[in-house]
Amino acid sequence: MGPIGIFDSGFGGLTILDGIRKRMPQYDYVYLGDNARAPYGTRSFDVVYEFTLQAVKKLFEIGCPLVILGCNTASAKALRTIQQSYLPANAPDNRVLGVIRPTAEVVGKLSVTRHVGVLATEGTIRSDSYKMEIEKLHPGMTVVGQACPMWVPLVENNEYDKPGADYFVKDGIDKLLAQDSLVDTIILGCTHYPLLLDKIRLYCPENIQLVPQGKYIAESLEDYLSRHTDMDMRLSKGGTCKYYTTESTDKFTESASIFLHDKVESERITL
Ligand code: DGL
Repeated sequence: MGPIGIFDSGFGGLTILDGIRKRMPQYDYVYLGDNARAPYGTRSFDVVYEFTLQAVKKLFEIGCPLVILGCNTASAKALRTIQQSYLPANAPDNRVLGVIRPTAEVVGKLSVTRHVGVLATEGTIRSDSYKMEIEKLHPGMTVVGQACPMWVPLVENNEYDKPGADYFVKDGIDKLLAQDSLVDTIILGCTHYPLLLDKIRLYCPENIQLVPQGKYIAESLEDYLSRHTDMDMRLSKGGTCKYYTTESTDKFTESASIFLHDKVESERITL
């Protein structure tokens, strides 16, 4: 038996961890942030795959039978190859899940106009993962996407609630809505973006629903575990959470405490 592993390039996956722990506090969790190499958003497919696979292997080594990629960029660029090639040959009993499909599933129930917008990193938007997934699950739905390359650095550098962030937030939203004025639902397709939620609300027309992912990923994971009781039985349930980072623990502790509104202790790890 082992904990559920949650991985992100940096701090963003903490918004996923938070949503999951609120809904399922009984499980043990391990969080791994590759802060030393974040952001992943502008990196190539090959590099994101290589880094993500290293993190997944590390979480398996720590004893996690199930790993969630709490990162849209890693889910878009690495998940499929890990599921289809790496796991069958190397860890057939373990599972790796991402955050794009559960989010794509939920917009079918949320959008009335059936026009959906996605705000995400350059890598996620370029991969077209949301567009493909949503159009497959909800035929006839229109999807437009806008890359916001400055948003992750604003969050990683604790500038997300400062006045300087307003320009970039407004700019991303304006560019998205200029592509399609019928959009009534916007996916925050990067796990860092919930930290910018107050500013995003400020610059978004009121009729538009914003979809941060934590709650929906938690619901989807709960549903997955109820359907895969063999996996559920392999997960330890002691209510603990451990944090690992590839960067300095001081910086991780300071920023993670802001994300989680709680003090966390972390350990440095190399991948
Ligand atoms: N938080 C990650 C995501 O959801 C990516 C941030 C990054 O490293 O660029 O896409």
